[in-house]
Amino acid sequence: YTIEWDATGAQKGGYASFMAKEIHEQASAVADTLRGRIEDGKLQLDEMKIDEAVLRTIDKIVVVACGTAANAGAVVKYAIEHWCRIPVEVELAHEFRYRDPVVTEKTLVVAISQSGETMDTLMAVRHAQEQGAKVVAICNTRGSTIPREADAALYLHVGPEIAVASTKAYLGQIAACFLLGLFLAQVRGNLYPDEIAQQMEDLSAIPEKIQEVLDSSDQVERLALEMKDATSVLFLGRHVGYPTAMEGALKLKEIAYIHAEGFAAGELKHGPIALVDQGQPVFVIVPSPGGRDSLHSKVVSNIQEVRARGARTLVIAEEGDEAVLPYADEVIRYPRTRALFAPLLTVIPLQIFSCELATAKGLDVDQPRNLAKSVTVE
Ligand code: AGP
Repeated sequence: YTIEWDATGAQKGGYASFMAKEIHEQASAVADTLRGRIEDGKLQLDEMKIDEAVLRTIDKIVVVACGTAANAGAVVKYAIEHWCRIPVEVELAHEFRYRDPVVTEKTLVVAISQSGETMDTLMAVRHAQEQGAKVVAICNTRGSTIPREADAALYLHVGPEIAVASTKAYLGQIAACFLLGLFLAQVRGNLYPDEIAQQMEDLSAIPEKIQEVLDSSDQVERLALEMKDATSVLFLGRHVGYPTAMEGALKLKEIAYIHAEGFAAGELKHGPIALVDQGQPVFVIVPSPGGRDSLHSKVVSNIQEVRARGARTLVIAEEGDEAVLPYADEVIRYPRTRALFAPLLTVIPLQIFSCELATAKGLDVDQPRNLAKSVTVE
């Protein structure tokens, strides 16, 4: 199916920037990525032009991408490995291309690119195809080079993204890769049909939850104003919260020009905690307390650790999670969902934070210095 892109959709529609507009379009963007995928209780991906027999022989998936698209890949690694029991490597396309990567006919390469024109990613695709790998492109721009050269292309259908900083495409990339992962699990028989249907049902509930997060953005907007003179912000997360931390830091660097670092929270004591000093702002992405293992309590301990060293803790936690309260200077809430789907919600306050902070600093949010929307040179 196709989505009509109307010309007025390219205007700012009352928002201060295209980035703000695109952030606020994310509920419908993800709904558009997911639309029309379930038929007779089965997940349909008509665009997956790679033979199912070939998909059953795949023994490794390599995601190649850059920047925000690579962070999307890092999120879906957790889902695809969990559902399909196939090892997934996430590689920055330029690093993958210029070493001697192990790629065979049994490797499925997933190239994620909003523009479909990123030269680093295109070169990685060509290199993988030369070794006999099949390539699926996850792209937004129809007819662009990467999906044309790939063996199959899954489009995001999120509409044109004008702001240099990627937001709605990031959510679309994650959602599209979830579809790919569930499709592989269906083809390879890793999940029962009713399990896939249940996952799809929960995924379909995400746009409504995205809207809830967007509707409660006042708190983050206030924080952004308060923190507009910050010189360094840290972001911590575990599991899927880790790539979310990376993405939060990337957004802040690229549009607000603030030094920002995303860390795996478990890595803190191996070095980064030395950065924490009195007043250091630290965002922490907290998984659901209802999740597996002791992940939640581990992250709560990490909040405690940085707080004890003077950090100002800005905690992104599930609705009703009381355990974070004693250690949080601010609690930003997100609606309950499956642990693997939470990144579609938890990144939104971070996007809004960067956008509002850069706007408050009077910066050109849509055209940050030194950056281009599509990087067509290596
Ligand atoms: C996103 O905010 C960045 N501007 C950038 O990292 C971007 O995601 C990267 O250059 C990849 O672009 P692509 O998705 O068009 O390939």
